[in-house]
Amino acid sequence: YTKVKDIYSDYKNYLGKQVTVGGWVRTLRSGKNFGFIELNDGSCFKSVQIVFDESISNFSEVSKLGVGASVTVNGNVVVSEGNKQDFEIKAIEVTVDGISPSDYQLQKKRHSFEFLRTIAHLRPRTNTFAAVFRVRSVASFAIHKFFNERNFVYVNTPIITCSDCEGAGEMFKVTTMDLNNLPKSEDGKIDFKEDFFGKMANLTVSGQLNAETFATALRDVYTFGSTFRAENSNTTRHAAEFWMMEPEIAFADLKDDMKLAEDMLKYVISYLLENAKDEMEFFNKFIDTELLSRLDNVINSDFGCVTYTEAVDILMKADVKFDYPVKWGVELQTEHEKYLTEKVFKKPVFVTDYPKEIKAFYMRRNDDGKTVAAMDLLVPGIGEIIGGSQREERLDVLEKVLDEFSLKKEDYWWYLDLRRYGSVKHAGFGLGFERLIMYVTGIGNIRDVIPFPRTVNNAEF
Ligand code: 4AD
Ligand code: MG
Repeated sequence: YTKVKDIYSDYKNYLGKQVTVGGWVRTLRSGKNFGFIELNDGSCFKSVQIVFDESISNFSEVSKLGVGASVTVNGNVVVSEGNKQDFEIKAIEVTVDGISPSDYQLQKKRHSFEFLRTIAHLRPRTNTFAAVFRVRSVASFAIHKFFNERNFVYVNTPIITCSDCEGAGEMFKVTTMDLNNLPKSEDGKIDFKEDFFGKMANLTVSGQLNAETFATALRDVYTFGSTFRAENSNTTRHAAEFWMMEPEIAFADLKDDMKLAEDMLKYVISYLLENAKDEMEFFNKFIDTELLSRLDNVINSDFGCVTYTEAVDILMKADVKFDYPVKWGVELQTEHEKYLTEKVFKKPVFVTDYPKEIKAFYMRRNDDGKTVAAMDLLVPGIGEIIGGSQREERLDVLEKVLDEFSLKKEDYWWYLDLRRYGSVKHAGFGLGFERLIMYVTGIGNIRDVIPFPRTVNNAEF
């Protein structure tokens, strides 16, 4: 089978040649003794026109095929007689692989994204979703390429874990015990002795802690995989299962971390503009007409950078009234992030040095005693896309902080060992992969950039 994309990329070379293509019928028009099929094989947007006539043995069967039917066509690539396309395939033989009755839900018309979510098993057959998922694949490859070129080691961190990296308690539990008959110990707490892991295990919220162990052995590493959060927030930017890409770099501080994040993001966007051109132009035409100019601007300008304290100052002087009033110490809400990126900076902006109370335990304490060496990257249209920090490498400080957060040192013994033996300054960040895909496609809902979204009340398919 030849892919339709390959024919389009060099159709002159295919003229006069016999090819076999397989695909799904987008439209079919037929007359008494000839007909046309627009056949799409998913390799690119463009369908290929198949011309068939009574010379094929199953003419009447093919003439009656419905939208969505699958066929294998053997035929010659010829110059098209119509003026809508440069070439077409003149069928010698058409094999019907699978019929598609008229109740097929993807008849040729515009469908809303909401409706398409209810048929997530079929939506990759639409132009928009095919483009989203091709871009997702290319972006994932670009990330690996970026880190590979810089000699980072790709580490596979575990999905099942007994530690809570973010300390936010938003974890899905993993157990082999009978939930209707949980063994209790004397103090009334659940006894995990009978459980597979002998401890309460969870789905990971982040691979960071494991990545730190590898960074303090192999220097520069990254992990890229599924992460899980049982946040009950029904927003367009949160999913219960999402992909996160987390680099961790040794002998590096917050500045190195931010430089890495900016270089990585610019690299991935440039790579997409070059290697997913048709898809990016499609999004610019149908989803967001300012997409390409905005991404161009991202590649060609420096990201903004403010401290949390400066950001709060800007927000307190803002000429709009926020639903959540701002003062030093509060978490920045989406409306604040939007104001900073869309009204003030109009480009991606790093916010650094957050109050220690609103960030995770592992972030390095700054000398002011109030803030930590954290950075969030905010982008217009979405808000936070990256969260990162320099890590606390001083054993005594980290032990004190664990106490402050009421976290047990015993649970973090191996993490503390990294500070006990050959501790070095190190830093890292996490990029929410779906938020990146939203950003580079202009798609507004996280449910539409992940093949099978997992959100509250939604684990079908
Ligand atoms: O800011 P977060 O929670 O940072 C961490 O997990 C760190 N351990 C990362 C690190 O330093 N290695 O999450 C990182 C990013 C966020 O900026 C956001 O883009 C994404 O992960 N994210 C989500 N994406 C979709 N759905 C959710 N529920 C998400 N929660 C976080
Ligand atoms: Mg964060």
